[in-house]
Amino acid sequence: MLWRRGRKRKRLMAANGFTLALPRKIVFGWDALCDAHREILRCGRRVFVLAASRCAGAAERLEAALRREGAEVLRAAGPGREPEVEDVDRLAAEARAWGPEVVVGLGGGSAIDCAKAVAAVAPNADAGTAADFLEGTGSTRPLVRAPLPLVALPTTAGTGSEATKNAVISWRARSLKRSIRDDRMLAAAAVVDPALSAGLPPDLTAASGMDALTQLIESYIARGANAFTDALCESALPRALAALPAAHADGRNRAARTDMAYAALASGISLANAGLGVAHGIAPALGILYGVRHGAACAALLPFALEVNRHAARAKLAAIWRRWVGARARDDDDAVTRLIAHVRDLCERLGIKVRLREYGVTRAAVPELLELASGNSLRSNPREFAPGELAELVAEIV
Ligand SMILES: [Fe+2]
Repeated sequence: MLWRRGRKRKRLMAANGFTLALPRKIVFGWDALCDAHREILRCGRRVFVLAASRCAGAAERLEAALRREGAEVLRAAGPGREPEVEDVDRLAAEARAWGPEVVVGLGGGSAIDCAKAVAAVAPNADAGTAADFLEGTGSTRPLVRAPLPLVALPTTAGTGSEATKNAVISWRARSLKRSIRDDRMLAAAAVVDPALSAGLPPDLTAASGMDALTQLIESYIARGANAFTDALCESALPRALAALPAAHADGRNRAARTDMAYAALASGISLANAGLGVAHGIAPALGILYGVRHGAACAALLPFALEVNRHAARAKLAAIWRRWVGARARDDDDAVTRLIAHVRDLCERLGIKVRLREYGVTRAAVPELLELASGNSLRSNPREFAPGELAELVAEIV
Protein backbone atom coordinates (compact mmCIF):
# COMPACT_ATOMS: atom_id res chain seq x y z
CA MET A 1 0.00 0.00 0.00
CA LEU A 2 1.36 3.40 -1.01
CA TRP A 3 0.70 5.10 2.32
CA ARG A 4 3.03 2.67 4.07
CA ARG A 5 6.02 3.86 2.04
CA GLY A 6 8.65 6.49 2.81
CA ARG A 7 8.22 9.23 5.36
CA LYS A 8 4.52 8.53 6.01
CA ARG A 9 5.40 4.98 6.92
CA LYS A 10 8.06 6.20 9.34
CA ARG A 11 5.56 8.54 11.04
CA LEU A 12 3.05 5.71 11.29
CA MET A 13 5.65 3.47 12.90
CA ALA A 14 6.66 6.19 15.36
CA ALA A 15 3.04 6.59 16.39
CA ASN A 16 1.99 2.97 16.55
CA GLY A 17 4.93 0.66 16.87
CA PHE A 18 8.67 0.31 16.81
CA THR A 19 11.59 -1.99 16.29
CA LEU A 20 14.37 -2.13 18.86
CA ALA A 21 17.99 -2.84 18.07
CA LEU A 22 20.08 -3.43 21.19
CA PRO A 23 23.40 -4.96 22.20
CA ARG A 24 22.88 -8.66 22.94
CA LYS A 25 23.87 -8.10 26.57
CA ILE A 26 24.54 -5.06 28.74
CA VAL A 27 26.55 -5.29 31.97
CA PHE A 28 26.45 -2.06 33.96
CA GLY A 29 28.06 -1.21 37.28
CA TRP A 30 31.04 0.15 39.18
CA ASP A 31 34.02 -2.22 38.65
CA ALA A 32 32.16 -4.17 35.93
CA LEU A 33 35.59 -4.40 34.26
CA CYS A 34 36.36 -7.23 36.68
CA ASP A 35 33.80 -9.44 34.88
CA ALA A 36 34.47 -8.24 31.33
CA HIS A 37 36.77 -11.16 30.50
CA ARG A 38 33.89 -13.61 31.07
CA GLU A 39 31.71 -11.80 28.54
CA ILE A 40 34.60 -11.75 26.06
CA LEU A 41 35.36 -15.45 26.49
CA ARG A 42 31.73 -16.28 25.67
CA CYS A 43 32.46 -14.88 22.19
CA GLY A 44 35.84 -16.48 21.58
CA ARG A 45 39.33 -17.23 22.90
CA ARG A 46 41.43 -15.31 20.38
CA VAL A 47 40.91 -11.72 21.43
CA PHE A 48 41.92 -8.62 19.48
CA VAL A 49 41.89 -5.71 21.94
CA LEU A 50 41.85 -2.20 20.56
CA ALA A 51 42.44 0.19 23.44
CA ALA A 52 42.83 3.95 23.66
CA SER A 53 46.33 4.80 24.92
CA ARG A 54 44.80 6.66 27.88
CA CYS A 55 43.30 3.33 29.01
CA ALA A 56 46.52 1.30 29.12
CA GLY A 57 46.06 0.36 32.80
CA ALA A 58 42.56 -1.03 32.27
CA ALA A 59 43.71 -2.81 29.10
CA GLU A 60 46.54 -4.50 31.01
CA ARG A 61 44.15 -5.68 33.73
CA LEU A 62 41.76 -7.04 31.13
CA GLU A 63 44.54 -8.76 29.18
CA ALA A 64 45.90 -10.38 32.36
CA ALA A 65 42.44 -11.71 33.27
CA LEU A 66 41.97 -13.11 29.76
CA ARG A 67 45.41 -14.79 29.72
CA ARG A 68 44.75 -16.32 33.16
CA GLU A 69 41.77 -18.07 31.53
CA GLY A 70 43.96 -19.35 28.70
CA ALA A 71 42.90 -16.85 26.04
CA GLU A 72 45.25 -15.54 23.36
CA VAL A 73 45.37 -11.77 23.18
CA LEU A 74 46.68 -9.33 20.60
CA ARG A 75 46.56 -5.75 21.83
CA ALA A 76 46.63 -2.84 19.39
CA ALA A 77 46.65 0.91 20.09
CA GLY A 78 43.75 3.02 18.89
CA PRO A 79 44.52 5.92 16.56
CA GLY A 80 44.44 8.43 19.44
CA ARG A 81 41.88 10.62 17.63
CA GLU A 82 38.57 10.17 15.83
CA PRO A 83 39.20 7.23 13.45
CA GLU A 84 39.90 7.65 9.75
CA VAL A 85 39.50 5.10 6.95
CA GLU A 86 43.28 4.51 6.83
CA ASP A 87 43.30 3.66 10.57
CA VAL A 88 40.50 1.14 10.11
CA ASP A 89 42.13 -0.45 7.07
CA ARG A 90 45.51 -0.76 8.81
CA LEU A 91 44.03 -2.25 11.98
CA ALA A 92 41.62 -4.52 10.04
CA ALA A 93 44.61 -5.90 8.09
CA GLU A 94 46.47 -6.50 11.36
CA ALA A 95 43.45 -8.26 12.85
CA ARG A 96 42.82 -10.30 9.70
CA ALA A 97 46.42 -11.51 9.61
CA TRP A 98 46.12 -12.73 13.20
CA GLY A 99 42.64 -14.22 12.95
CA PRO A 100 40.72 -13.12 16.05
CA GLU A 101 37.43 -14.66 17.18
CA VAL A 102 36.32 -11.52 19.02
CA VAL A 103 37.21 -7.81 18.96
CA VAL A 104 37.25 -5.66 22.10
CA GLY A 105 36.96 -1.85 22.02
CA LEU A 106 38.17 -0.15 25.20
CA GLY A 107 38.11 3.64 25.38
CA GLY A 108 35.98 6.58 24.35
CA GLY A 109 33.68 6.74 21.35
CA SER A 110 36.63 7.01 18.94
CA ALA A 111 38.26 3.79 20.18
CA ILE A 112 34.96 1.88 20.26
CA ASP A 113 33.92 3.13 16.82
CA CYS A 114 37.34 2.15 15.50
CA ALA A 115 37.06 -1.34 17.05
CA LYS A 116 33.51 -1.68 15.73
CA ALA A 117 34.66 -0.75 12.22
CA VAL A 118 37.64 -3.15 12.43
CA ALA A 119 35.29 -5.96 13.50
CA ALA A 120 33.10 -5.18 10.48
CA VAL A 121 35.81 -4.61 7.86
CA ALA A 122 38.24 -7.41 8.77
CA PRO A 123 35.98 -10.28 7.55
CA ASN A 124 34.99 -8.21 4.48
CA ALA A 125 38.38 -6.83 3.48
CA ASP A 126 38.39 -8.81 0.21
CA ALA A 127 35.22 -6.94 -0.80
CA GLY A 128 36.53 -3.42 -0.18
CA THR A 129 38.28 -0.93 2.08
CA ALA A 130 36.64 0.89 4.99
CA ALA A 131 35.74 3.76 2.63
CA ASP A 132 33.72 1.38 0.42
CA PHE A 133 31.39 0.51 3.32
CA LEU A 134 30.68 4.10 4.42
CA GLU A 135 27.04 5.12 3.95
CA GLY A 136 26.01 8.24 2.06
CA THR A 137 28.92 8.25 -0.37
CA GLY A 138 26.96 7.29 -3.47
CA SER A 139 28.80 3.98 -3.82
CA THR A 140 28.23 2.16 -0.52
CA ARG A 141 28.91 -1.58 -0.50
CA PRO A 142 27.07 -3.84 1.96
CA LEU A 143 28.91 -6.00 4.47
CA VAL A 144 28.70 -9.44 2.84
CA ARG A 145 30.09 -11.38 5.80
CA ALA A 146 28.91 -10.89 9.37
CA PRO A 147 31.19 -8.68 11.50
CA LEU A 148 33.29 -10.33 14.21
CA PRO A 149 31.62 -10.24 17.64
CA LEU A 150 32.39 -7.01 19.48
CA VAL A 151 32.64 -6.38 23.21
CA ALA A 152 32.58 -2.65 23.99
CA LEU A 153 33.94 -1.09 27.17
CA PRO A 154 33.31 2.67 27.20
CA THR A 155 35.46 4.94 29.36
CA THR A 156 34.21 8.47 28.67
CA ALA A 157 30.41 8.59 29.20
CA GLY A 158 29.77 10.29 25.88
CA THR A 159 28.88 8.81 22.52
CA GLY A 160 26.96 5.75 23.68
CA SER A 161 28.81 3.90 20.91
CA GLU A 162 28.67 0.75 23.04
CA ALA A 163 24.95 0.58 22.20
CA THR A 164 24.82 1.69 18.56
CA LYS A 165 24.98 -0.16 15.25
CA ASN A 166 27.24 2.30 13.45
CA ALA A 167 30.86 3.39 13.52
CA VAL A 168 31.63 7.00 12.57
CA ILE A 169 34.73 7.22 10.38
CA SER A 170 36.39 10.21 8.71
CA TRP A 171 37.42 10.03 5.08
CA ARG A 172 39.76 12.99 4.64
CA ALA A 173 40.35 12.46 0.90
CA ARG A 174 36.68 13.21 0.30
CA SER A 175 36.23 15.57 3.31
CA LEU A 176 33.53 13.25 4.66
CA LYS A 177 32.65 11.94 8.10
CA ARG A 178 30.20 9.09 7.67
CA SER A 179 29.18 5.79 9.23
CA ILE A 180 29.59 2.13 8.50
CA ARG A 181 26.18 0.91 9.65
CA ASP A 182 24.71 -2.55 9.97
CA ASP A 183 22.42 -4.13 12.56
CA ARG A 184 25.02 -6.88 12.95
CA MET A 185 27.53 -4.32 14.24
CA LEU A 186 25.67 -4.08 17.57
CA ALA A 187 27.90 -5.27 20.38
CA ALA A 188 27.66 -8.86 21.59
CA ALA A 189 28.20 -7.31 25.00
CA ALA A 190 28.48 -3.74 26.30
CA VAL A 191 30.32 -3.72 29.62
CA VAL A 192 29.81 -0.29 31.17
CA ASP A 193 32.02 0.40 34.17
CA PRO A 194 31.63 4.01 35.38
CA ALA A 195 34.88 3.63 37.37
CA LEU A 196 36.76 3.72 34.05
CA SER A 197 35.71 7.36 33.59
CA ALA A 198 36.86 8.47 37.06
CA GLY A 199 40.23 9.73 35.79
CA LEU A 200 38.86 11.59 32.79
CA PRO A 201 40.08 15.23 32.75
CA PRO A 202 37.46 18.01 33.07
CA ASP A 203 37.60 19.13 29.42
CA LEU A 204 36.91 15.59 28.13
CA THR A 205 34.23 15.10 30.79
CA ALA A 206 32.54 18.27 29.57
CA ALA A 207 32.70 17.52 25.85
CA SER A 208 31.70 13.86 26.09
CA GLY A 209 28.97 14.66 28.62
CA MET A 210 27.50 17.33 26.33
CA ASP A 211 27.51 14.76 23.51
CA ALA A 212 25.43 12.41 25.68
CA LEU A 213 23.08 15.22 26.72
CA THR A 214 22.64 16.34 23.10
CA GLN A 215 21.95 12.75 22.04
CA LEU A 216 19.35 12.36 24.77
CA ILE A 217 17.53 15.58 23.85
CA GLU A 218 17.75 15.08 20.08
CA SER A 219 16.57 11.46 20.21
CA TYR A 220 13.82 12.40 22.72
CA ILE A 221 12.30 14.82 20.21
CA ALA A 222 13.33 12.93 17.03
CA ARG A 223 10.75 11.75 14.50
CA GLY A 224 11.51 8.12 15.35
CA ALA A 225 11.00 8.54 19.11
CA ASN A 226 8.72 5.89 20.60
CA ALA A 227 7.38 4.81 23.97
CA PHE A 228 10.52 2.83 24.77
CA THR A 229 13.03 5.55 23.85
CA ASP A 230 10.87 8.17 25.60
CA ALA A 231 10.97 6.16 28.82
CA LEU A 232 14.71 5.68 28.51
CA CYS A 233 15.36 9.39 27.87
CA GLU A 234 13.07 10.36 30.73
CA SER A 235 15.09 8.17 33.08
CA ALA A 236 18.42 9.52 31.83
CA LEU A 237 17.82 13.23 31.17
CA PRO A 238 17.41 14.29 34.81
CA ARG A 239 20.51 12.30 35.75
CA ALA A 240 22.61 13.86 32.98
CA LEU A 241 21.42 17.41 33.71
CA ALA A 242 22.37 17.08 37.39
CA ALA A 243 25.45 14.86 37.10
CA LEU A 244 27.36 16.56 34.29
CA PRO A 245 28.31 19.70 36.26
CA ALA A 246 29.05 17.51 39.31
CA ALA A 247 31.32 15.11 37.38
CA HIS A 248 33.06 18.10 35.77
CA ALA A 249 33.66 19.73 39.16
CA ASP A 250 34.86 16.53 40.84
CA GLY A 251 35.93 13.68 38.57
CA ARG A 252 36.04 11.26 41.55
CA ASN A 253 32.35 11.82 42.35
CA ARG A 254 31.17 8.21 42.09
CA ALA A 255 27.44 8.96 41.92
CA ALA A 256 27.93 11.58 39.21
CA ARG A 257 30.21 9.31 37.14
CA THR A 258 27.68 6.48 37.45
CA ASP A 259 24.80 8.70 36.37
CA MET A 260 26.77 10.01 33.38
CA ALA A 261 27.74 6.47 32.31
CA TYR A 262 24.05 5.52 32.48
CA ALA A 263 23.05 8.66 30.55
CA ALA A 264 25.56 7.92 27.79
CA LEU A 265 24.42 4.30 27.51
CA ALA A 266 20.75 5.37 27.41
CA SER A 267 21.56 8.01 24.78
CA GLY A 268 23.21 5.38 22.58
CA ILE A 269 20.24 3.02 22.78
CA SER A 270 17.84 5.88 22.17
CA LEU A 271 19.66 7.37 19.18
CA ALA A 272 20.11 3.96 17.56
CA ASN A 273 16.35 3.45 17.64
CA ALA A 274 14.82 6.94 17.45
CA GLY A 275 17.36 8.88 15.37
CA LEU A 276 18.96 12.25 16.09
CA GLY A 277 18.54 15.78 14.81
CA VAL A 278 20.07 18.87 13.33
CA ALA A 279 22.93 19.25 15.85
CA HIS A 280 24.22 15.78 15.00
CA GLY A 281 23.53 16.50 11.34
CA ILE A 282 25.96 19.44 11.29
CA ALA A 283 28.48 18.31 13.97
CA PRO A 284 30.42 15.92 11.65
CA ALA A 285 31.01 18.78 9.20
CA LEU A 286 32.42 20.95 12.01
CA GLY A 287 34.75 18.07 12.78
CA ILE A 288 35.97 17.44 9.26
CA LEU A 289 36.33 21.11 8.21
CA TYR A 290 37.41 22.78 11.47
CA GLY A 291 38.77 19.92 13.56
CA VAL A 292 36.16 20.42 16.30
CA ARG A 293 35.85 17.35 18.52
CA HIS A 294 32.46 15.68 18.27
CA GLY A 295 31.25 16.48 21.79
CA ALA A 296 32.24 20.14 21.57
CA ALA A 297 30.57 20.42 18.16
CA CYS A 298 27.34 18.94 19.56
CA ALA A 299 27.43 21.31 22.54
CA ALA A 300 27.98 24.33 20.29
CA LEU A 301 25.01 23.32 18.15
CA LEU A 302 22.59 22.23 20.90
CA PRO A 303 21.14 25.71 21.68
CA PHE A 304 20.59 26.18 17.92
CA ALA A 305 18.90 22.77 17.66
CA LEU A 306 16.55 23.69 20.51
CA GLU A 307 15.74 27.07 18.98
CA VAL A 308 14.92 25.80 15.48
CA ASN A 309 12.79 22.98 16.92
CA ARG A 310 10.99 25.11 19.50
CA HIS A 311 7.67 24.89 17.64
CA ALA A 312 7.92 21.36 16.22
CA ALA A 313 8.89 19.87 19.62
CA ARG A 314 7.53 22.46 22.04
CA ALA A 315 5.68 20.13 24.43
CA LYS A 316 8.65 17.80 24.99
CA LEU A 317 11.21 20.61 25.28
CA ALA A 318 8.98 22.46 27.75
CA ALA A 319 8.60 19.23 29.72
CA ILE A 320 12.39 18.91 30.04
CA TRP A 321 12.52 22.37 31.61
CA ARG A 322 9.52 21.92 33.89
CA ARG A 323 10.23 18.40 35.10
CA TRP A 324 13.99 18.38 35.50
CA VAL A 325 15.48 21.87 35.47
CA GLY A 326 13.23 24.63 36.80
CA ALA A 327 9.54 24.57 37.61
CA ARG A 328 8.75 28.18 36.70
CA ALA A 329 7.61 29.22 33.22
CA ARG A 330 4.78 31.46 31.98
CA ASP A 331 3.90 28.99 29.21
CA ASP A 332 5.51 26.31 27.05
CA ASP A 333 7.25 28.84 24.83
CA ASP A 334 8.75 30.55 27.86
CA ALA A 335 9.84 27.15 29.21
CA VAL A 336 11.73 26.41 25.96
CA THR A 337 13.39 29.86 26.09
CA ARG A 338 14.51 29.14 29.65
CA LEU A 339 15.81 25.69 28.67
CA ILE A 340 17.90 27.21 25.86
CA ALA A 341 19.36 29.79 28.27
CA HIS A 342 20.11 26.99 30.74
CA VAL A 343 22.00 24.97 28.10
CA ARG A 344 24.06 28.05 27.11
CA ASP A 345 24.84 28.68 30.77
CA LEU A 346 25.81 25.01 31.27
CA CYS A 347 28.21 25.16 28.30
CA GLU A 348 29.76 28.33 29.72
CA ARG A 349 30.22 26.70 33.14
CA LEU A 350 31.83 23.70 31.43
CA GLY A 351 34.17 25.95 29.42
CA ILE A 352 32.72 24.97 26.02
CA LYS A 353 32.53 27.57 23.24
CA VAL A 354 29.06 27.98 21.78
CA ARG A 355 29.67 30.49 18.96
CA LEU A 356 30.61 28.86 15.67
CA ARG A 357 32.89 31.78 14.81
CA GLU A 358 35.04 30.84 17.81
CA TYR A 359 35.87 27.66 15.87
CA GLY A 360 36.71 29.64 12.72
CA VAL A 361 33.37 29.30 10.91
CA THR A 362 32.38 32.31 8.78
CA ARG A 363 28.99 33.11 7.25
CA ALA A 364 30.50 32.56 3.81
CA ALA A 365 31.51 29.01 4.80
CA VAL A 366 28.01 27.92 5.84
CA PRO A 367 26.97 26.42 2.44
CA GLU A 368 30.12 24.24 2.41
CA LEU A 369 29.45 23.24 6.02
CA LEU A 370 25.93 22.12 5.15
CA GLU A 371 27.05 20.29 2.03
CA LEU A 372 28.94 17.95 4.34
CA ALA A 373 26.09 17.61 6.84
CA SER A 374 24.73 14.15 7.57
CA GLY A 375 21.40 13.53 5.87
CA ASN A 376 20.50 10.74 8.29
CA SER A 377 20.33 12.99 11.33
CA LEU A 378 18.66 15.81 9.42
CA ARG A 379 15.92 13.44 8.26
CA SER A 380 14.97 12.51 11.81
CA ASN A 381 14.95 16.14 13.04
CA PRO A 382 11.43 17.16 14.13
CA ARG A 383 11.34 20.27 11.93
CA GLU A 384 11.64 19.92 8.18
CA PHE A 385 13.71 22.57 6.43
CA ALA A 386 12.83 24.08 3.05
CA PRO A 387 15.73 24.23 0.53
CA GLY A 388 18.13 26.96 1.62
CA GLU A 389 16.30 27.53 4.91
CA LEU A 390 18.83 25.73 7.08
CA ALA A 391 21.74 27.71 5.57
CA GLU A 392 19.97 30.98 6.46
CA LEU A 393 19.32 29.81 10.01
CA VAL A 394 22.89 28.61 10.57
CA ALA A 395 24.30 31.86 9.12
CA GLU A 396 22.39 33.74 11.84
CA ILE A 397 24.28 31.97 14.62
CA VAL A 398 27.80 32.26 13.19
FE1 LIG B 1 27.05 12.26 19.35
